[in-house]
Amino acid sequence: MEKKIDETKQGNSLVLEAKDSNKRKLFIESYGCAMNFSDSEIVASILSNQGFNTTNELEEADLVLVNTCSIRDKAEQTVRKRLEKYNAVKRDINPKMKVGVLGCMAERLKEKFLDEEKIVDMVVGPDAYKDLPNLLAEVEAGNDAVNVILSKEETYGDISPVRLNSNGINALVSITRGCDNMCTFCVVPFTRGRERSRNPQSILDEIQDLANTGYKEITLLGQNVDSYVWYGGGLKKDFKNATEMEKATATSFSQLLEMVAKAQPQMRVRFSTSNPQDMTEDVFHVMAKYPNICNHIHLPVQSGSNRILKEMNRQHTTEEYLTLVDKIREILPNCSISQDMITGFPTETEQDHKDTLALMEKVRYAFGYMYKYSERPGTMAARKFEDDVPEATKKRRLTEIVELQRKHGAEITQSFVGKTTEVLIERASKKNPNEWSGRNEQSITVVFPKAGYKLGDIVKVKINSCTSATLIGEAVNY
Ligand code: SAH
Ligand code: F3S
Repeated sequence: MEKKIDETKQGNSLVLEAKDSNKRKLFIESYGCAMNFSDSEIVASILSNQGFNTTNELEEADLVLVNTCSIRDKAEQTVRKRLEKYNAVKRDINPKMKVGVLGCMAERLKEKFLDEEKIVDMVVGPDAYKDLPNLLAEVEAGNDAVNVILSKEETYGDISPVRLNSNGINALVSITRGCDNMCTFCVVPFTRGRERSRNPQSILDEIQDLANTGYKEITLLGQNVDSYVWYGGGLKKDFKNATEMEKATATSFSQLLEMVAKAQPQMRVRFSTSNPQDMTEDVFHVMAKYPNICNHIHLPVQSGSNRILKEMNRQHTTEEYLTLVDKIREILPNCSISQDMITGFPTETEQDHKDTLALMEKVRYAFGYMYKYSERPGTMAARKFEDDVPEATKKRRLTEIVELQRKHGAEITQSFVGKTTEVLIERASKKNPNEWSGRNEQSITVVFPKAGYKLGDIVKVKINSCTSATLIGEAVNY
């Protein structure tokens, strides 16, 4: 349902169209955020030129790659379990199989992986995927291979990703890589490096290709999409100083969004993730101007307490956040807002927690992703603080915010009952194969009887009932 993928869910192995000339078999699966899933498409594209077709049968793979997530300890534990599984297959069934770790855990643990996890042959960080052919050659020569060098420039803009595990309808298009924000709890700036933006032309070209192949919706992807900026064909480092940089023609996120929406009026456009401190009003105006840009903003806040926000090094207060929310409501009255929240950050008091609940009451998010704080080695928060909120307290606070979110979600879904909402059909409903499932602009899941419609259709659906997260209705002629 959601664009953002829950880090705790099982990874998906990805399969793409086979090339007859390719004789080797790649099993690639991804955990974590949408960016990882998008990166795996780049990796599969690179390896397709190295003689690999994808398979979803682990046992028959020549090469197993796992794209990993470090955001919370639990995410890393999930990957370790998968490595044990590969190990068992390698030992019992397929001794020639090679195993590589990609992504954030590769970057965080580097060579340690080779020492600790004897099964791993290759460790490749998020900016080193173009080096895969060389690394593979090393592995085939019987050596271990590691490349975890982070880049200030790599955007993979020149690689056209193969669309994996795809329904042929929604696609992820990355526009920035890395993050410069340094939220104190977060490992991403360490594992994904400095922020860099991708050439707008390569973004537009990729989306044009997607349109040509029948895709109906794209999500522009970045850790912090609002800070997207492209300096007239050059790179930030090419400019001597800020003034010179300002003089150059820069493309901002709102301009990019407008270029995309204008170029593809038939395509639905989404973006994720927005960061409160960098989001500007011009984005809302572009959203209001182009009906194909979906009325949904994922706007993580993390906490409703100013003291905690400060300790998190978030560059906004709750007041500034609420002013931004008011602006959204004013310019985009039908826009849904969703959140990320962390509960039990070090030193969080009962009052801080109450402030979070109070902020949620003020905003009334459509949905959200809520997590217990997980200490990440090397981050500022880990260096400065004890992880001092007891597990039971974290758990109870998490339950309270999840419950409140459920209540707000239910109120929002209820407000659609009796109304009509436009839905892009994305898949058959998991519960009932005679029903379609899709999302409306607000990113709320809608299910309804198939009744002659097909995947990829955009349909008006009259909503008859709902649960706290799903709308239930029937397609109507108009
Ligand atoms: N800007 C990113 C954020 C990536 S991390 C984006 O594109 O969404 C996704 C979410 O995980 C964060 O918003 C935060 O709520 C949560 N998170 C990050 N580090 C965490 C930690 N150490 N413990 C618990 N949750 C964390
Ligand atoms: Fe992490 Fe904050 Fe960037 S949550 S990804 S450091 S915006």
